[in-house]
This record gives sequence, structure tokens and C-alpha cells, in this order.
Amino acid sequence: MKRIIIAIDGPAASGKSTAAKHLARKLRYLYLDTGAMYRACALAAKRSEIDIDDEDALKVLMENIQVTIQYSEQGNITLLDSQDVSVAIREPEISLLASAISAKAVVRTKMVELQREMSKMGGVILDGRDIGTVVFPQAELKFFMIAPVETRAKRRFLELQDKGLNPIYEDVLHEMKERDKADSSRALAPLVPASDAIQIDNGQLSIEAQVAELYRHYQKRMAEL
Ligand code: DC
Repeated sequence: MKRIIIAIDGPAASGKSTAAKHLARKLRYLYLDTGAMYRACALAAKRSEIDIDDEDALKVLMENIQVTIQYSEQGNITLLDSQDVSVAIREPEISLLASAISAKAVVRTKMVELQREMSKMGGVILDGRDIGTVVFPQAELKFFMIAPVETRAKRRFLELQDKGLNPIYEDVLHEMKERDKADSSRALAPLVPASDAIQIDNGQLSIEAQVAELYRHYQKRMAEL
């Protein structure tokens, strides 16, 4: 059977990655969390103490950076220069820095190149902001996930609590709104739905219902190909 490219875009905490992970398992596809890659860039910038507005320093960082998403049964691992940074990249400080660094052309060029390289065999689900518009405009199936910002902030709040952190809901909500604004209004590859993306509002949907909905669209699309 043909192994296609599936793009899942949407704002922060819109449930993209959970749905993408489940669907990838069901289809035995590779799952690529492209947000994790921008987060790894942010962590690299922080660790090497570079100012992300310093274009020359950022260029050198991108020339030497190695970001890999490695498959594992327990969930994918993000490697930065061969080191597992899967936990470190989820810090709230890194979320904001990832949003800022992802607006830089030199960073996007490098990450998009890596994303295309890692997907060249097909049979891949990528989640992000610009997968259906920029990375793979020719993807055979595209989704755009949405949910109210309060629902998304609540999800992120619970995730942080689960990790043993002590978040404040109002701060999480504020950070989510800031990131939505930055990701949607930037000049390069802003968060916008591709014209041929299927919009899924998952505010009221369980994970099972979301995956069932995505799978239904997948089957329909495969019948057309
Ligand atoms: O999906 P996430 O919250 O892990 O993504 C972190 C940041 O990376 C997000 O604020 C915007 C950026 N990003 C992007 O610009 N393009 C993508 N394809 C994925 C993420």
C-alpha cells in the first residue's frame, strides 16, 4: 500500500502530537514532532549563550547543530548533538525561546531541510505549524487542529503538573496567548491552515474520537489515491 505524507498543523497544545502519535502507531508510520526540533535549537542557543538576534552566531550554530528524532517504543527521543534532550526541551522557558528562534530564516531553512530528509521514504506523520503550507505543500493528507485557547492552556497546565512542576494557570494561559500571537503573526511560515487542510476542532473530542476521525479521513483519502 502507498505510504503517504500526513501533515498535522495547529497551535500550541491543540492535541496535534497526541493525535499524531496514536495515528502513527495505528498506521505503522514514522512520527516526526517538528516542534521538538525547534525546541532543540532553542536549547542549543541557550546552552551556548548566544543572542538569537546575533545573525552570525545563529548561522554558525545552525551549521554545526545536529538534531535527530529517534524512534523508541516508549515514545520518540529528541537528540541534540547525540544527547537525549527530550525532557529539557519541555521547560516553559524553552517554549518561548523556541517560538522566538523559529521565526529566524536560518533556523527554518535548516530544520525544513532535515524534516524533508527524514521523510523522504514516505509513511510519515509530521506535526508542526507549517507542514502543510511550506514543508510538504504536496502532502496527500493535511489536518489543521484547533481548540479554544482556555482548553489548550488547561491541557498544558495539567501536563506540567503531571511532570511534578507547580504551574500557575493564569501564567500558562498568558504564555499560550503570547505564543499564538507570535507564531501566527511572524513573517516567515506563519501558523495558517493550508487551503486544502481538514480542520478538526478537538475541544470536545476524546483522544479515541480524534484518532477515529483522522483515520476515517485517511481511509477516504487512500481510496482516492
Ligand atoms: O509544537 P511546539 O509547541 O512544541 O513548538 C514549539 C515552537 O516551535 C512553536 O512555538 C513554534 C515553533 N514551530 C514552528 O515554527 N514550526 C513548526 N513546524 C513547529 C514548531
